Amino acid sequence: MASSLFRAKTVEQSVRETREPGHRLRRDLSALDLVVFGVGVIIGTGIFVLTGRVAREYAGPAVAVSFAIAGIVCALAALCYAEFASTVPVAGSAYTFSYATLGELPAWIIGWDLILEMALGAAVVAVGWSGYFTSLLETLGIDLPPTFAGEDARFNIPAVCIVALVTFILVAGVKISSRVNGIMVLVKVAVVLLVIVAGAFSIKLANYRPFIPPAVSTEEVEGIRAPLVQLLFGMTPVAFGWLGVFSAVAIVFFAFIGFDVVATTAEEAHRPQRDLPIGILGSLGICTLLYVLVSLVVVGMQHYSDLSESAPLADAFRAVGQPFFAGLISVGAIFGLTTVVLILLLGQSRVFFAMSRDRLLPESLARVHPRFGTPARSTILMGTIVALLAGFIPLSALAELVNIGTLFAFVVVSLGVMVLRRTRPDLPRSFRTPWVPVVPILSVLACVFVMLNLPAETWIRFIIWMLLGSVIYFAYGRRHSRLARSSSPDGKSVI
Ligand code: ALA
Repeated sequence: MASSLFRAKTVEQSVRETREPGHRLRRDLSALDLVVFGVGVIIGTGIFVLTGRVAREYAGPAVAVSFAIAGIVCALAALCYAEFASTVPVAGSAYTFSYATLGELPAWIIGWDLILEMALGAAVVAVGWSGYFTSLLETLGIDLPPTFAGEDARFNIPAVCIVALVTFILVAGVKISSRVNGIMVLVKVAVVLLVIVAGAFSIKLANYRPFIPPAVSTEEVEGIRAPLVQLLFGMTPVAFGWLGVFSAVAIVFFAFIGFDVVATTAEEAHRPQRDLPIGILGSLGICTLLYVLVSLVVVGMQHYSDLSESAPLADAFRAVGQPFFAGLISVGAIFGLTTVVLILLLGQSRVFFAMSRDRLLPESLARVHPRFGTPARSTILMGTIVALLAGFIPLSALAELVNIGTLFAFVVVSLGVMVLRRTRPDLPRSFRTPWVPVVPILSVLACVFVMLNLPAETWIRFIIWMLLGSVIYFAYGRRHSRLARSSSPDGKSVI
């Protein structure tokens, strides 16, 4: 039994299955498309929304340091992702990698875990989108009833509409998605550059002092709301100081989520072995630089304690008497967040597609639409789930759950690189992670450290989610899995 839980697919088998008729995705994406995809999904709620909250509550002007640290943590993981993606160029990202290295149960766990990153992440961003959209309409004099729009809505109609629109685009074809995405990414990057350049003229050096505000205890943050690391070591929860900077890293990590999604499109890249590392590392590098600059400018424009929580970038311009720029930034944010929802959903539908192709989920979800060449069923199913989540649940608190899920996937991928180097040294790797095993080990340690800085309640939610996933695997996936069938003599399932 134990051995069947860790039955692994060979890399060759994974690649062969991508060529089966009816399950083949169209190869339509170039290296540049992938970088644009990456930037499209990375820049979003993290920089447009979370910067303000994190500077006010945890890090002060040193939020820029938190962004830089989070960028380094992600770069370590990205070096591992790039090797994996260039060796196993198959849809499904960390899920597929794990299947080829660690075996079926760990692969299922990762696939299940990625739902937190992508589906829940898309829903969180859709709710953020709705907030910006509602506030833009307000400035135009149109008030939507709070029951149906904004963070506290009972049923968030704009959030549902944006998810529905994005699902429609995704079903219509990945090339169209990447064109729509390309235009929106241009707008988004232009707005971010505008913040940096225009904002630089309004910086007051006094706002940078003290750069790392002295630590203060936050006794009202008690029990399971406190970061796990502070509970484990029996510390009174503190904000600011270096501990505050680290707590901030765990939250602004959300801003980097997405570079790994590039790896989920592996089967759709022209030359995955070369293009994926460029896409992953290129988009991560560009975004890290932009984040550090934007956060430095924003905390220089306004004292960190005055930053707004819902729209800090736009409001900083309002505060220095430039409402025109504030309006432009809101429009940019609306475009920017749309691309994030688009690509997270794209990634999620590809992971679901790969899991159903392996029969860990019902196989019918792995059919590719005959005309559009996209996994239409899994896209529509995930779109519906995300729309319902975004419609009914105020998700801002769940962003931390998205982070822990993603960090866990990073840990597994980093371990997987070391495993695959040992088990399959023969495989062609067009991109090799440097200094193995040092870089993967540092990546694991860095990710675990960031995870420990997340609140204990996030850990509890995460553990419950993973237990639920394990129950589903034993009830369904284990019997139906393609590997289970192929290993039994009559082709029927073996348990
Ligand atoms: N990185 C993405 C964002 O910040 C998920 O919205």
